[in-house]
Amino acid sequence: MGVTSRVHPPLNPLSVRVVSDPSREWRLTEVNLKVLVIGSGGREHALVWKLSQSPRVDKIYCAPGNAGIAEIAECLDIKADDVDSLLNFARYEWIDMTVVGPEAALTAGIVDAFVKEGRRIFGPDKSGARLEGSKVFAKDFMLKYGIPTAEYRMFSSYLHAEEYIRLKGAPVVIKADGLAAGKGVFVCETVDEALEALKSIMKEKAFGDAGNRVVVEQCLKGEEASFMILTDGKTVVPLVSSQDHKTIFDGDKGPNTGGMGAYSPAPVITKSLETTIMKTVIDPMMKGLSRERINYRGVIYAGLMISDGKPYVLEFNCRFGDPEAQPILMRLESDLFDMLKATAEGKLNEARVSWKDDAAVCVVISAKGYPGNYEKGKIITGLDELTDEKDTMVFHAGTSAKEGKLVSSGGRVLGVTALGSDISAARDNAYKALGKIHFEGMHYRKDIGDKAIKRVKS
Ligand code: AMP
Ligand code: GLY
Repeated sequence: MGVTSRVHPPLNPLSVRVVSDPSREWRLTEVNLKVLVIGSGGREHALVWKLSQSPRVDKIYCAPGNAGIAEIAECLDIKADDVDSLLNFARYEWIDMTVVGPEAALTAGIVDAFVKEGRRIFGPDKSGARLEGSKVFAKDFMLKYGIPTAEYRMFSSYLHAEEYIRLKGAPVVIKADGLAAGKGVFVCETVDEALEALKSIMKEKAFGDAGNRVVVEQCLKGEEASFMILTDGKTVVPLVSSQDHKTIFDGDKGPNTGGMGAYSPAPVITKSLETTIMKTVIDPMMKGLSRERINYRGVIYAGLMISDGKPYVLEFNCRFGDPEAQPILMRLESDLFDMLKATAEGKLNEARVSWKDDAAVCVVISAKGYPGNYEKGKIITGLDELTDEKDTMVFHAGTSAKEGKLVSSGGRVLGVTALGSDISAARDNAYKALGKIHFEGMHYRKDIGDKAIKRVKS
């Protein structure tokens, strides 16, 4: 795998201005920029919202976006992984920077395609996106570079996997190798459950070719947390910590989802644990990327299990977490456009990054039936009443406009996200705002943030 050389994009002549800065030196700067954001979830709404605050950004497009994003950006009828159409649009509209939200476009090679013609884009190329795109690649990478993770074996034969599961016993974790929209991981309490999961992945092909290989993994116990960094391959900027709530029901019960809520900071990640994570996870990971000649530019999200005070990597993702991005971006004080541009250009050492001291909590509202088959087309009311709420944002995920009305159109529908002086205050603000929102069959967890509040009190 060769190192991708990234050329600076052809500058849009309409965006280049000669300005004088306070030191009275004349320099070229870019203003009135056009940004294209790819994706349609709460994460992308939060990205578009934060990017729209940059004085340099004039116009934002989003492909395909949602009804909330449409209020601040122009939404395009292009799918998030339709690389050819996205590239054509970027050429035609002379887009100054593209920001990729979801993983599918990254593993499909969107960054490689844009970089090939010198277009500025935020996200890792195909070789870097394998960290998320293949669990086998990620586990082998962790083993090779000494990153703490659960013991595992990889299988491409159903019979060998079955034999190994019977030998090892339960609890055990079964993972499909490829992308499975967050549904390819099974934490199994019994051998029968594990064999059921194996059958559905390898025999019934529940996730298609993503299930050609499986990882059978030791089950770790502890508390989970999300730790994200920005990197341009040389500099690492840790983002503030956060914690997701994976399961659909309160008390961490029920099936896993894409994430039902998140808060930042995550008190489980103390200052000293952050130092340990940087030393035992991030440093060897950066060394590994460099040894593998992967020129990674983007976000790396380490999903961690904190077990007996030590961090173990459950997974790497090659993009911002969702819903984690929602509270994190609400806490960001700096200009997001400048940060992402610096990352894409390999100049992250020049970026200024600062955060609000406030905590933030996001509570996701989902549709009836999610994460299984869910209802759509329900009319959403109450959002107009929230315009006066200070420090509260309702980020849209699965919403669309139908005959002038706002309706649900996805599994996760809204992310009610609020700031507060601490997690308890932020949680109260988020639930207060949520109380005004209604649609038929709506579901949300009532315990987002409770674990953090308990931890701080004890
Ligand atoms: P992943 O997509 O790999 O993060 O897995 C989804 C979820 O499955 C994680 O957030 C954990 O809750 C759980 N999980 C994954 N791997 C393990 C493991 N080795 N031990 C315990 N739980 C796990
Ligand atoms: N919230 C988990 C994820 O984005 O993968």
